Amino acid sequence: MLKNAASKYRPFPPVHLPDRQWPNRVLTAPPLWCSVDLRDGNQALAVPMNVSQKLELFEALVKCGFKEIEVGFPAASNTEFAFMRRLIEDHRIPEDVTIQVLVQAREDLIERTVESLMGARKAIIHLYNSTSPAQRRIVFGLEKAEVVGMAVRGAQWIRDRVPRLVGTDVRLQYSPESFSATEVEFALEICSAVMDVWEPTPDRKIILNLPDTVEVAMPNVYADQIEWFIRHLPRRDSAIISVHTHNDRGTGTAATELALLAGAERVEGTLFGNGERTGNLDVVIVALNLYMHGIDPGLEFGDLSALCEVYERCTGMIVPPRQPYAGELVFTAFSGSHQDAIRKGLRAWETAATKGDSIPWDVPYLALDPSDLGREYREVIRVNSQSGKGGVAYLLESEFGIELPKDLQREFGPIANEEVDQLGREVRGPELKAMFWREYIERETPWKLDGFATEGRNGVVRCRARLLDHGQPRELEGEGNGPIAAFVHALSTGGLPRFEVASYLEHALGSGEGASAIAYIQIRLADGRTRWGAGVDTNIELASIKAVVSALNRS
Ligand code: KIV
Ligand code: ZN
Repeated sequence: MLKNAASKYRPFPPVHLPDRQWPNRVLTAPPLWCSVDLRDGNQALAVPMNVSQKLELFEALVKCGFKEIEVGFPAASNTEFAFMRRLIEDHRIPEDVTIQVLVQAREDLIERTVESLMGARKAIIHLYNSTSPAQRRIVFGLEKAEVVGMAVRGAQWIRDRVPRLVGTDVRLQYSPESFSATEVEFALEICSAVMDVWEPTPDRKIILNLPDTVEVAMPNVYADQIEWFIRHLPRRDSAIISVHTHNDRGTGTAATELALLAGAERVEGTLFGNGERTGNLDVVIVALNLYMHGIDPGLEFGDLSALCEVYERCTGMIVPPRQPYAGELVFTAFSGSHQDAIRKGLRAWETAATKGDSIPWDVPYLALDPSDLGREYREVIRVNSQSGKGGVAYLLESEFGIELPKDLQREFGPIANEEVDQLGREVRGPELKAMFWREYIERETPWKLDGFATEGRNGVVRCRARLLDHGQPRELEGEGNGPIAAFVHALSTGGLPRFEVASYLEHALGSGEGASAIAYIQIRLADGRTRWGAGVDTNIELASIKAVVSALNRS
């Protein structure tokens, strides 16, 4: 990289708009959405989709609720043309969906495009040509007037052919490609010239799509360009202002949202941001950003994982694990403090919801409720070596109903973390339960309980216990005011380490006849050290005795 970046790159000139209005506005309604997955997304694939993949993705887009779908560039290839004909002839386009086709300002291409649309119920013909100084100078070698002439001729060729599409409700769209790198005055001039040819009216509006073809500036600059354009556009009421952003500087979402504040009414983009280079705008993000502010986006992403699957199968692309909303890790917390906060937040939310209270979503670290997108709470927390006791306890409780006492959580948390650290990867619930079982429930050395019986008289419980001490049987007897006290007494008379019971908790594991119970016991040894033990049995008394042996074995 250059130390003197300014010797090669220059700052982007701002738009003069001192009384800009967009920073004071808030979004209150969704835009019109147009998916360009099958065109802009498709043209960016190493292996473009075949007809059946395009059909599958088209159906998925319809299911999401897109009412405008740019299905391709029919004049560009036989596959594109065949796909259009398949959609129309097989009656695959729902009545409320308009298909959009892209074409350059060339007469032969326009002719073929119109041919591809024969029999369609509703269509948008989308004309574009590049307008930026670099494109004019380097690519076309044309002056501004000649570039305007090119757009006007393209508009005329389309206008003259539209009457041939008998029975088709045709709308027209023009894009000054590379709008954001074009002088705003020139973008306005060329769009006005196209409007003069198409003569839009408030009832039959033109769509003026103003692309951020390559992101060249910060999103506030794009918003200024959009607001400037809208404020200077004659016959504003006869145009729908559409935005189409890409992600070269990584700010396609921000650019789109600020452009909406600036007055844009329509958004073009793709699922998960597929598209040339760094991709198009990810429409899922903008739609769900609206949703998490309480605005119905008019698009349905209630089964986002299924949509990801269709997308990945059709395009061969992958949804990155940290893609907003859709990524695999989006509802996963790795740090202990996050896990703890999420756990408390979810509890508070669930408690309010069961009481029928309608409270706004406010769970720390979860921008929205994963279940709204078909994701599961179970996916929310996984445990790795960085996780705190909260995450460990949450998984054991949510997946297996094991409610570890707080103090035991503090003891088991670091034990689990160390084991996970050695594995060098994250672990799921079942592995965590196995760790707990190994550490507490299955501890049978040096002592193993081999038999236990009690009888009670006048408030005094006597017990007979059989222990295997390093495999050797030992019979012990003791008495106390309950089975645990009697067992502790029996152990002390049998010469085992002296201790007292510091805490005791138990609860059922599962329900029904075969249900077992889990008991947790904390013992305090003569030197003051404490240790937890746990035992599981269908008999609660035996579960607690096993818990004492487990604690002793761990001492
Ligand atoms: O990015 C772009 O400018 C385009 C146009 C064809 C609209 O895809
Ligand atoms: Zn594009």
